[in-house]
Amino acid sequence: MHRQRHPWTRLVLAFCLLVHIASATSATQFPRGFAIATGHPLATDAGIAAFEQGGNAIDAAVSAALTLGVVDGFNSGVGGGCFMLIRLADGRIFALDGRETAPASATRDMFVRDGKPDPHLSQCGALASGVPGSVAVYDYAIRRFGRRPWSEPWERAAQTAASGFIIDRHYHERLRDTADDLRRFPASAAIFLDSQGQPVEPGQTLRQPDLAATYRAIGRSSAKWFYRGPFARATDAWMRHNNGLLTARDFARYRMLRREPIRSTYHGYDLVGFPPPSSGGVHVAQILNVLGYFDLPSLQPGHADFIHLATEAMKLAFADRAYWMGDADYARVPRGLVSVGYARTLADRIRPDHARHVEEHGVPEPVDPNWFNRHTTHLSVADAAGNWVALTASLNTSFGSKVVVPGSGVVLNNQMDDFSAQPGTTNYFRLQGSEANAVAPGKRPLSSMSPTMVLHHGTPILAVGASGGPTIITQTVLAILNTIDGGLDLPSALAHPRFHHQWYPDELRVERTMPPATRQNLARRGHAVVETKSLAFTQAVGRAANGRLTAASDPRGQGTAAVRQE
Ligand code: DON
Repeated sequence: MHRQRHPWTRLVLAFCLLVHIASATSATQFPRGFAIATGHPLATDAGIAAFEQGGNAIDAAVSAALTLGVVDGFNSGVGGGCFMLIRLADGRIFALDGRETAPASATRDMFVRDGKPDPHLSQCGALASGVPGSVAVYDYAIRRFGRRPWSEPWERAAQTAASGFIIDRHYHERLRDTADDLRRFPASAAIFLDSQGQPVEPGQTLRQPDLAATYRAIGRSSAKWFYRGPFARATDAWMRHNNGLLTARDFARYRMLRREPIRSTYHGYDLVGFPPPSSGGVHVAQILNVLGYFDLPSLQPGHADFIHLATEAMKLAFADRAYWMGDADYARVPRGLVSVGYARTLADRIRPDHARHVEEHGVPEPVDPNWFNRHTTHLSVADAAGNWVALTASLNTSFGSKVVVPGSGVVLNNQMDDFSAQPGTTNYFRLQGSEANAVAPGKRPLSSMSPTMVLHHGTPILAVGASGGPTIITQTVLAILNTIDGGLDLPSALAHPRFHHQWYPDELRVERTMPPATRQNLARRGHAVVETKSLAFTQAVGRAANGRLTAASDPRGQGTAAVRQE
């Protein structure tokens, strides 16, 4: 008996050893190559640190995002939301929706006073915030797809929060511009203003010990600490004392949602975009569908004909955005918006030589039965194994609602301003909305955040997105056009002079680097050309035709990109 069992035991032991060797080998042999582009050098470093610990693109993206919440905390953080688009090495694609939700007691006219919307209410203070969604997305992404422990990116970012970082001119300017509002909230002033109530000066070190403690608490436990524990309770208490609506129950009810990404094609490339409550995926696809009917590849990216055609397509898309778009779990958002047939009818309305006044939205066919299912900062990361991430995260405007939940160091978003406070009126970004984007309990405000991927024959070649409100959509389109049609490498594609049209106001915004002759040409066609300093901040990673990974951070910002070939 004993002898008979012996070979079996040896076999089992040998099998266990093989499994052990295989898993150890896969741990050490995870390909070392990567590409990363983020909006801040310390965030890029945090992503690289995750790779160096054996992490994949998902670990690196979350590590960079959490560090951005520390060093770029006026743009994004755990008090805000995000959309995360993930392409796994096995080809599966996930669209994780961490958009904020309106409180259960929110009402359609909560920002209307004496018949008119009061933008200050939706932009600053207790009514401005929805339930933050980023923590739920990072939790899902790391636990499901990451290779590193949940606590690791939190601890890495907490160290930066605790030891501090040097305030640069850019950060100081954002503080200066928001100081009056930050001053209204003692917990915010205590962190971001000095003892005289003035913005922290460039060159000074900003330490955020409360935020470090919050990060460590979440890292040591779980997202429950945020949604069902001390953070939810602290927010509830602050809201109750300040006439806010958010409650601990709203936090407990929050769910990250897995969405079906929007897929479209452009000149033989496959595009993957983010569906509602983002408007990004729909309109990036729609604009490119329309432009697919023109011979853009024969035009240089900066050519006036190219700018004219793209502008006309942007106008048509933004007119549709204002009418049709909202959280598709609440409003009927027609799928026909991204159909090529509808794009044909829009393309037919474009005149090659003059700007057309777009009176109102179009009507995609078929309107009725086919709806999307009832359901800011950008960073892009890829690893050599084939995992790709495009992640856009936001508090909305600088320092969000300007409210720090006392004791937590967490700045709450002001994403409620992305709702349409009243049909026909505009929000901070001068975007109009309709009933589809009216406030409702639990609803997610419409977003322009557009994390996007481009694939060629199944292989990812570009992960791109931007910050900058509605300009996110148009600059994501331009980055794609500049690389696919224009044949530019990533740094040149992002550096190229930009333009933007969002239907209302009827103006074509162009960066001041755009040559005067081009502007005059556009003005002659009837465009109301308005110069602007810069449009959006874009971050992209890609795979060049020779197979090498590439990365580029927008030269307009202070972000960085890094690449290590496999
Ligand atoms: O979701 C949106 O569309 C906006 N809340 C994004 C805000 C933004 O990009 C601010 N950056 N400049």
